[in-house]
Amino acid sequence: MTLSTLGLDGYPAARTVLLSCFDGERLHFHTDSRSRKAAELAALPRAAVTLVWPEAARQLVVVGDVAPVTDAEARTAYAARTRYLQVLAWVNDHEAAADTPARRRELWAAFEHERPGADLGPPSTWAGFALTPVRMLFWRGATDAASNRLAYERHPGGRWSQESWPG
Ligand SMILES: Cc1cc2nc3c(=O)[nH]c(=O)nc-3n(C[C@H](O)[C@H](O)[C@H](O)COP(=O)(O)O)c2cc1C
Repeated sequence: MTLSTLGLDGYPAARTVLLSCFDGERLHFHTDSRSRKAAELAALPRAAVTLVWPEAARQLVVVGDVAPVTDAEARTAYAARTRYLQVLAWVNDHEAAADTPARRRELWAAFEHERPGADLGPPSTWAGFALTPVRMLFWRGATDAASNRLAYERHPGGRWSQESWPG
């Protein structure tokens, strides 16, 4: 999904992240605590996420408040990541990014050599966040009719209202 935040310079910032899970109320995503997005969310804990299914002519935009997940939630999400993404969370830093591709492969191999097949736990930089929706916008396209959107908004007290908007 595309995660949009407010950049520290006031320009929008956007990037792709994995939707780690939807727990029935919040959308979870995970990242590196040293990342730009983590700094942006510390400054303003609000974000939008955009999910798109072009083949199904569907789009969902969710806007809401972001808070860190619990340690247990972060560990569960880490355990569910592929081995590649688990290792990536350990070795993906500024120093490695500036290295040559060959050197990055060496670093990766050295990491795996030191812990062959070991169950990995998350590095201290593993950071999880969950977005609680305040607005949800479901877009539905069609080939034989006008597209339209269902807009949901949460009001104080938790009541949701719904409106139909043109696409
Ligand atoms: C398909 C895809 C999935 C990605 N998933 C994640 C993710 O789950 N977490 C993450 O931190 N970065 C993920 N990235 C990398 C981010 O898009 C981004 O480059 C990185 O997190 C740094 O973003 P920032 O500098 O805005 O904080 C993914 C990139 C792609 C293309």
